[in-house]
Amino acid sequence: MLAANRGTILGFSRRLRSKVRRDGIGGLALAVWWQSWRRVNGSKRQERLLDGEFDRAHGVDTAGVISLYSLNLPNQENLDHGLKYQGINPNIFRKMMGALPAIDFSKFVFIDYGSGKGRALLLAAEYPFSRIIGVEFAPELHMIAKRNIQAYRNSRQVCRAIQSICADATTYELPADPAVIYIYNPFDAVLMTRVLENVAVSLAAHPRQLYLLVSGESLQTVVAGAGFRRLVQVSPGQFGTAIFANSP
Ligand SMILES: C[S@@+](CC[C@H](N)C(=O)[O-])C[C@H]1O[C@@H](n2cnc3c(N)ncnc32)[C@H](O)[C@@H]1O
Repeated sequence: MLAANRGTILGFSRRLRSKVRRDGIGGLALAVWWQSWRRVNGSKRQERLLDGEFDRAHGVDTAGVISLYSLNLPNQENLDHGLKYQGINPNIFRKMMGALPAIDFSKFVFIDYGSGKGRALLLAAEYPFSRIIGVEFAPELHMIAKRNIQAYRNSRQVCRAIQSICADATTYELPADPAVIYIYNPFDAVLMTRVLENVAVSLAAHPRQLYLLVSGESLQTVVAGAGFRRLVQVSPGQFGTAIFANSP
């Protein structure tokens, strides 16, 4: 193992020396820049392809990255705390859902805080939730989500009670049902703290099982700090995902 590593390192440094001899330090710098540009833009291109593929397959419009500053928000109070719109990668969504403990979906409501054009709502409809609710504060995105819910065609759809609500996540009152709450990078830790304060009030009034699917390391720190137990780290890192629960 050690010998294999040494072989790899020796091979790499030999290639590096011969590159510098051939093309100079400038050539090496150019090659490094080109490789990293290809890595970043190659994966962005992949994301764009996947975006288009989902929309074409299901007759909807969920693609694209949209800055909140390009939207008409009637209430701008939380604008600076919000993050841009970008639909979840369907593969990542299904991986997250697959990591949930075995639950009777029909007893749970699925809630998406910051549901945008509704891609996660449509994906959640592949599971037999009692109903699915998206909370989105940008009216333009909410209207697109409503159209998408109507237009969606997918033979894997098993839940048809899907609703997009135009509201700020910090003022939305949770239904009293057990819930799978999905939070995919909608806003910063400040708003997350306020949302969790409301969740705590709701839990005190109606004790029940909640699962939180949370993307983003900083939001996960807030959720853990609010007393939710981390069940699974689905993927690590700054943009990774984890599942939390409120009781053992
Ligand atoms: C990264 S997108 C997530 C889209 C969707 N959840 C999905 O997974 O496909 C984040 C969304 O959160 C919304 N958002 C940001 N701040 C919000 C707030 N305070 N209340 C409700 N929605 C908010 C944005 O408008 C955006 O549509």
